[in-house]
Amino acid sequence: MSLDTRDTDPRPGTGPERHTRELVRLEQVSKRFGDRTVLDRLDFSVDAGKHVTLIGPSGSGKTTILRLLMTLAKPDEGTITVDGRTLYPAPEKQVREIRKNIGMVFQQFNLFPNMSVLRNITEAPVTVLGMSKDAAEERARELLELVGLSEHLDKRPGQLSGGQQQRVAIARALAMRPQVLLLDEVTSALDPELVAGVLDVLRDIARSTDITMLCVTHEMNFARDISDQVLMFDSGRVIEAGPPEKIFSDPEHDRTREFLSAVL
Ligand SMILES: Nc1ncnc2c1ncn2[C@@H]1O[C@H](COP(=O)(O)OP(=O)(O)O)[C@@H](O)[C@H]1O
Ligand SMILES: [Mg+2]
Repeated sequence: MSLDTRDTDPRPGTGPERHTRELVRLEQVSKRFGDRTVLDRLDFSVDAGKHVTLIGPSGSGKTTILRLLMTLAKPDEGTITVDGRTLYPAPEKQVREIRKNIGMVFQQFNLFPNMSVLRNITEAPVTVLGMSKDAAEERARELLELVGLSEHLDKRPGQLSGGQQQRVAIARALAMRPQVLLLDEVTSALDPELVAGVLDVLRDIARSTDITMLCVTHEMNFARDISDQVLMFDSGRVIEAGPPEKIFSDPEHDRTREFLSAVL
């Protein structure tokens, strides 16, 4: 199955650059709530096709980063670019265009309760991307197969387990063919026995597609498996970044060590 994410380099054959195109970039991004600074002149980028995981204590600003990228909140300062185009600050029309390239799966599945599983997946491609109903359904069926839910396409979300609902939410996000998929603790609201099935689907997607992933998770084994890079986040700053082998086995910072010994 083709999971084309429109993530092709506009300049094929231009050498090593090809592999390090920045897809998401935050520069000097600050976000305050009242007098509380949640993100403090944050810089980081995610290269196209890479899987980057944010780890760090609760309240350190991880969700806020994803919400800024989803344009569910606005920074107070700084710039955000996606694939070289400015998401913030930018005119509303441009924001809407860029926003189509970003998919997000939340801790709470946020499915449309009154729509079938199939319709949950086809709704946005039809209404936002203007896809034909038939094409959207064909794509939805492929995605339901990918997440192991082909038999459930006529059901309502309420008839599914939490793990199945979350897999629908993943399929729904992918249906928009986003360039980047944001995942915010997608297994945290699940009963423990349902976690593995969802993580397996995500591992499969990470392996079999070229989609860029920015993932917040407390599932450290999963993070170790899928990540190209892990960013340790504390008090609104990246305090340490590196490949998973380094961060999980030989972290530089005491704060990272403390955090890992608390969660591992
Ligand atoms: N809408 C909001 N209004 C006020 N404070 C908020 C809001 N969203 C997040 N915060 C605060 O910002 C901090 C970082 O939150 P968050 O990004 O959710 O952290 P994390 O995902 O790392 O747990 C927390 O102290 C949280 O209470
Ligand atoms: Mg959070």
